[in-house]
Amino acid sequence: MIIVLFGKPGAGKGTQAPLLAAALGVPTLATGDELRAAIRNGTPLGLEAKSYMDRGDLVPDSVILGIIKQALAEPRNAAGVVLDGVVRTVPQAEGLAAACAELGTKVDAVLCFDIDDEEIVRRLAGRTVCESCQSPYTGREPGTACDKDGGRLVRRKDDEPEAIRNRLEVYERQTAPVLKWYRDHGTRVAVIEAVGSVQDVTARALGALAS
Ligand code: AP5
Repeated sequence: MIIVLFGKPGAGKGTQAPLLAAALGVPTLATGDELRAAIRNGTPLGLEAKSYMDRGDLVPDSVILGIIKQALAEPRNAAGVVLDGVVRTVPQAEGLAAACAELGTKVDAVLCFDIDDEEIVRRLAGRTVCESCQSPYTGREPGTACDKDGGRLVRRKDDEPEAIRNRLEVYERQTAPVLKWYRDHGTRVAVIEAVGSVQDVTARALGALAS
């Protein structure tokens, strides 16, 4: 089962991914987390990605497709995977489809988390994330401890107001057209209302997958 989580920055993809993955019994892959880990580790991939990410621009498709192909070939992802923010351009959707076809599989559904820009700005301006496990929080101060692993909470550079504005523009210009691509190619797209409690959003998403 391959599920694509889709939606504007701050829609809740990273919050929902582990919850949905646990319910479905598959792992998650988040390109944002992979890239931030590469930056922390100072790898060539991280050095290439950092300036794009800090501005809120997309990292080149070739970089993302390399991550996707490597991840899909890993045994841990053989039974399926929840893809969190992995597909953000039409060439990425095409590349993922080709990589899946080589492995005899396909994207089963796209869950698009729907939320307005005002709520996004409110969420992202108040977000901190755990430096080690990447869990996101709203309304928790940087420097306090993560509930899950005690790691230090930090503010992401791309949660500065100017980067948030740019990320929303980039979403409309480069990412939103991906939904039409999936619909045109016969993949099921379910739009999930992303406002409300985290549990309610998870229940809506699982309900959409079951229907
Ligand atoms: P990435 O880390 O994926 O960032 P993003 O897509 O901009 O998404 P966010 O992590 O900001 O938001 P989210 O939807 O995961 O929401 P979250 O659950 O955290 O990517 C970062 C960068 O990497 C990109 O800008 C790009 O440069 C690069 N990149 C990554 N993938 C790429 C790709 N495929 N192609 C090219 N470049 C790529 O929630 C947000 C906040 O809201 C949190 O504080 C959370 O606690 C809170 N929240 C969540 N749900 C709720 C709720 N129901 N009610 C109230 N608050 C909630």
